[in-house]
Amino acid sequence: MESTLYKTWLQYNEIPGSELRREYADLLGRVVVERETSRHCTAAVNELTEGFKSMLRTNAVFMDEAPASGSYLRIGVKVVEAAGTNREGRGWEKGEDAFSLKLIKAGEGKRLELIGRSPSGVLYGVFHLLRGMALGLRPEELEREECPVNRLRMINQWDNADGSIERGYAGNSIFYEGGKIVADTSRIRDYARMLSSVGINAISVNNVNVHEIETRFITEEGLPEVARVAEVFRNYGIALFLSINFAAPLAIGGIGTADPLDPNVQQWWAETANRIYRHIPDFGGFVVKADSEHRPGPFAYGRDHADGANMLAEALEPHGGLVIWRCFVYNCMQDWRDRSTDRARAAYDHFGPLDGKFRDNVLLQIKNGPMDFQVREPVSPLFGAMSRTNQVLEFQVTQEYTGQQRHLCYLVPQWKQVLDFDTHAVSAGVQVKNIVEGSLFGMKISGVAAVSNIGNEECWTGHPLAQANLYGYGRLIWNPDLSAEAIADEWTRLTFGNDKDVVEKVTQMLMASWPIYESYTSPLGVGWMVVPHYHYGPDVDGYEYSRWGTYHFADRDGIGVDRTAATGTGYVTQYYIPNRETYESLKKCPDELLLFFHHVPYSHRLHSGSTVIQHIYDTHFGGAEAAEGLSLIWSALAGKIDAERYEAVESRLAEQRDHAKHWRDVINTYFHRKSGVPDERGREIY
Ligand code: GCU
Repeated sequence: MESTLYKTWLQYNEIPGSELRREYADLLGRVVVERETSRHCTAAVNELTEGFKSMLRTNAVFMDEAPASGSYLRIGVKVVEAAGTNREGRGWEKGEDAFSLKLIKAGEGKRLELIGRSPSGVLYGVFHLLRGMALGLRPEELEREECPVNRLRMINQWDNADGSIERGYAGNSIFYEGGKIVADTSRIRDYARMLSSVGINAISVNNVNVHEIETRFITEEGLPEVARVAEVFRNYGIALFLSINFAAPLAIGGIGTADPLDPNVQQWWAETANRIYRHIPDFGGFVVKADSEHRPGPFAYGRDHADGANMLAEALEPHGGLVIWRCFVYNCMQDWRDRSTDRARAAYDHFGPLDGKFRDNVLLQIKNGPMDFQVREPVSPLFGAMSRTNQVLEFQVTQEYTGQQRHLCYLVPQWKQVLDFDTHAVSAGVQVKNIVEGSLFGMKISGVAAVSNIGNEECWTGHPLAQANLYGYGRLIWNPDLSAEAIADEWTRLTFGNDKDVVEKVTQMLMASWPIYESYTSPLGVGWMVVPHYHYGPDVDGYEYSRWGTYHFADRDGIGVDRTAATGTGYVTQYYIPNRETYESLKKCPDELLLFFHHVPYSHRLHSGSTVIQHIYDTHFGGAEAAEGLSLIWSALAGKIDAERYEAVESRLAEQRDHAKHWRDVINTYFHRKSGVPDERGREIY
């Protein structure tokens, strides 16, 4: 497909300004790349060829020796002397993905030198070069040395073999159709390009909830098919992982148990690992959701998570594979009458005591917050609580609770708050990003994963502007010090071009969008006031009397969950001081998390000066108005953006505008009826 919707941020439009274009054509018209390097860098060479053709309107000439005179681009690989671990040479050693770009004067000409520490490094360098050109940078502005901060930079697909996607909002799977892996993998290849262009180096290709067909992906019949997909990603420096069913030995192995300490089970997994690596020599490893939301796990046999994870890790270890074990474990059969159980406590309570018990090739994957990707939650207290365990932070790019790609919600500012959160583990100033990048506690391997937001719709992400979340995720975890605004600006330019007005307005819309969505859906950190199961649209009591542990406890006097040590569930004690004291104290607790930590009367006065009930009214009236404002800003761009994308965004913004009003009226009416307190400003509440 050639449409602007499809090409996302890889538009490769002709460089505007003939002078700059000529300068680049002169500098890049000849590309020197040794034959040996070129063999390992096919994707990079292809990308350059395509990029130059379309941006410079020239066909680059490739040569394997430097010309005697004139300017050229030289590409090379300089392998790192990495420390000898079993993952050596498999792309996991820090530094291997690094690249440098230098502009060197040579006689009357110039030489742009791109050196990668590995073929992946070259590929990242090529994407950096093409991005810089699209942003209108001059050659000397491209110079840099880059090394990604996080070693594991992963995407999780929640795709099912039947073609559906759990929490997918952009059509069906690009991977599967009718129980099979698709025959034509060209779209998967385009996805690999997109991911690689923002530095992603790992992908799990099936849902964490592993159903019948996917359980068989690891069999002799399933693996050749999976290997086809692995090959596509391999060319782009992306390692393929599979989500596995912990009960596979029972389900398909013909063994009457999945007990991790049973020798037959252990042997079955070891043989399975051997089989997998015969088909996919650089297989990344397993992602495991166990003893979570009815998925099987080690608990059935009286074993713990370390027993389960270590058994799988032992099977993968000889091949250099990893086990990514998810910490999304809680009691999903809770009795709402029981006020002592607190779902927010669960991950820490389950995994904290197991610190130090996991093998070297196990990573624990921890969701950013203690609940479940809400619009606003505190940061999971597990970050910093486990100094002897490899960790992966899990974000959700797909907008399950944040508007399902029908509402605009640019999530990079939210992720940045998480990464920048000061855990006070060890000392003040230890931010989540310092923990997950691994250096603080000397983790063997660590990083960030996120649930993808793409599907087979032409524009990949449903809402065209939701592409910014996928782009932003990759860029941010490559370098968590980039600002959300810089990423938004960059994405906008690459996607829509460098028109000043477009760049300013789209960036402004993106940056405003998460606070706007929060304002009409989730006041003061309360969360969960959504239609059960679908998680789209308001239903204040939808989860109130359910088994999921997701309550707001609103009554006629007040609202919020008491998680203090003094009178509540004690969840606050999972944080280090001073965070613990900040959250415990009604006075110090930040407004945006007040109802997450405290149950307060509607008349409680916030730091902002407003009462809780007035805050609810104000933010919902204000939020609905701001949502309408987004569509007005967009309409000012009519004529500056191609019709296809303009209309696709316009119709979604119109839906958001109307839906935000629905949210406003449902939430305001509910709390008005509950509390009996009128709006100070006398606006219409039903
Ligand atoms: C959420 C989501 C589920 C998903 C689960 C998980 O609860 O709604 O669809 O399976 O997270 O992360 O495992």
